[in-house]
Amino acid sequence: MARQLVIGNWKMHGSVGQVRTVLPELVRAELGSNIAICVAYPYLALAKSLLSESAIQLGAQDVCEFHIGAYTGEVSPAMLADVGCELVIVGHSERRRYFNETSEMAARKVKAALDGGLLPVYCVGETQAQRDAGIARDVIAEELQVLAGVPTSLYAVAYEPSWAVGTGVIATPEQIAEMHAFIKQTLDTRTRVLYGGSVKADNAAQVLATDGVDGVLVGGAALSAAEFLKICSQAR
Ligand code: G3P
Repeated sequence: MARQLVIGNWKMHGSVGQVRTVLPELVRAELGSNIAICVAYPYLALAKSLLSESAIQLGAQDVCEFHIGAYTGEVSPAMLADVGCELVIVGHSERRRYFNETSEMAARKVKAALDGGLLPVYCVGETQAQRDAGIARDVIAEELQVLAGVPTSLYAVAYEPSWAVGTGVIATPEQIAEMHAFIKQTLDTRTRVLYGGSVKADNAAQVLATDGVDGVLVGGAALSAAEFLKICSQAR
């Protein structure tokens, strides 16, 4: 069985100094290739050089759906691969919420990332209002629908209910197990499904022991080497 993935998403945090402090600590811990860290674009090349002696994978937090051309401000899949990225987060709830990204746009990014040789980690999740309205499964099904036809072995899904992202309120093991089962049943039982949303050192063991959890996508807690290492040590 493949090891559980632990992916750190630094979001728009960090600096040259923080990259130079945190990443060498992760390298010293001799983490395996089931661990990945996604820093902001300007730090990717530096991160790659610091990770060069390590199996830790490097990822980006977004990618352009186009491959080359006059798209000011965008970064192509080939550029990410060129600086050493192996994976990319696509369709994160923050991109949907603040930058009006739709599932259709995210699906095009997933396909572009695959063409560029990257592993897309496609994020889905419901809001609190959608959960309260009893339509969480419908929302997830719709978000997954756009990937119809893409072989499920080529990407991972991150279930990140937006009410759990950055709030300190983690989904319960029952909620996580139920939604992961639903996602696998909708796509393919072998689809890798990660959980994200307020995963910390003190709750990671429980999340990673939950049925159907193939890994975690960690935000805030990935900014501290000590905390992230504790989470990584719980991966089976
Ligand atoms: O992508 C990870 C994320 O959205 C979860 O963030 O800070 O709640 O762990 P956080």
